[in-house]
Order: sequence, then C-alpha cells, then structure tokens
Amino acid sequence: KRIAFLASGRGSNFQAVIDAIAAGTIPGICVGLVTDNPGAYAIERAKSAGIPVTVVDYARFPAKAAYEEALLSAMRACRADLFVLAGYMRILGFGIVREFSGRMMNIHPALLPAFSGLHAQRQAIEYGVKVAGCTVHLVDEGMDTGPIVVQRCVPVLPDDDETTLADRILAEEHEALPLAVKLFCEGRLEADGRRVRVR
Ligand code: GRF
Repeated sequence: KRIAFLASGRGSNFQAVIDAIAAGTIPGICVGLVTDNPGAYAIERAKSAGIPVTVVDYARFPAKAAYEEALLSAMRACRADLFVLAGYMRILGFGIVREFSGRMMNIHPALLPAFSGLHAQRQAIEYGVKVAGCTVHLVDEGMDTGPIVVQRCVPVLPDDDETTLADRILAEEHEALPLAVKLFCEGRLEADGRRVRVR
C-alpha cells in the first residue's frame, strides 16, 4: 500500500511509522509527507529518509478555503491508499474528509471519547483520571470522533504533570500508530458502522 502523511510539527509518530516500514513490519511504502508548517521538524525526518515533502504553508493563504484547495491537490498528488495524520494540528474541511473517507487515520493522545481537541494530556491531568492513553481512529467529519482502530492505556501517576504524562503516552503512540497502519495495509480492518473489527 502507498502511505502518505500529514504532520505539522515534531514528527515522532511519523518517524515511528517510517521506521516500521523500513524494518519490513508494515507492508507498504511511504510516498510523501505533506505539511502546513515550513518549520516542522518532520520535514528533516522525511528528507533524511528520502521521502518527498510538500509544504502547503498555511500562513501564505488569504483564507482557509484557498489553503484547503491547495492541501487537497497536494494530498491527491501523493496517490496514497492511506493518509496518516501524525500530529496534524488543524481541522480538515469536509471535502478532504469525504474524499479520503475510510482511508485516513489520526493519532490522538487520549482515550477517546474523553479529552478530544487540544491539550488532551493536560485535560486528563486536570480532570484527575487515573488511566490515560492514546487512540488511533479513522477520520470522520467531527473532531477526534471517527471509528476507533487501536487504543493503548497508561497509568496516571500521583506526581505526573502534563509533560511526564505526555511522554508516557507518546511511547504508546509510537506502538499504536504503526500497528494501526500495519493492520490497514494488511487489509485486516473491517469497519462496521462505529465498530472496527480486526480480522
Ligand atoms: C502527538 O501527541 C499526537 O497524538 C498529537 O500530536 C502529537 C504529535 O507528536 N496528535 P509528533 O509530531 O508525532 O511527535
């Protein structure tokens, strides 16, 4: 399968998946990284791995509609079977979500449906939950609402702050995302409404 990525920042989840592809764990090839942020460290990671990068710099567009149009063309140009949102920090428009329906995944640092949106780890600390984690889900029109593919949990320890919890969750993200991509590429995911079965 042809796998492409959308990322806005550090790109450690992107790295975890391309490492799993390089190791032969995931039967696929990485065909491109698309980013909205010319300063994203993910760009360096892609370059080191010889992966083509397209920057669609959000700041250079007069309005969201024009940005989304350019983003959609960049995404189409990848001719990907799967698009992975690996720390893409904007909400995608309906047009893009519809076009990639069933073949776009996102990683979120919380056990959805709890703590969607920004600063999920801080939300978990402030709420006082004792268990936190991460979720890989298919992308639908809502924010962090699509059918769940993989979840991993971690304890929240008494002395945790946002950073220590985020680090513990991140280690699980780096396993959950490659696993979800692997299952997709092996054709083992079967969506039945909200429920995704692994065959
Ligand atoms: C991760 O915590 C991911 O769950 C969230 O944004 C962060 C991205 O980290 N969506 P990285 O860019 O993959 O290192």
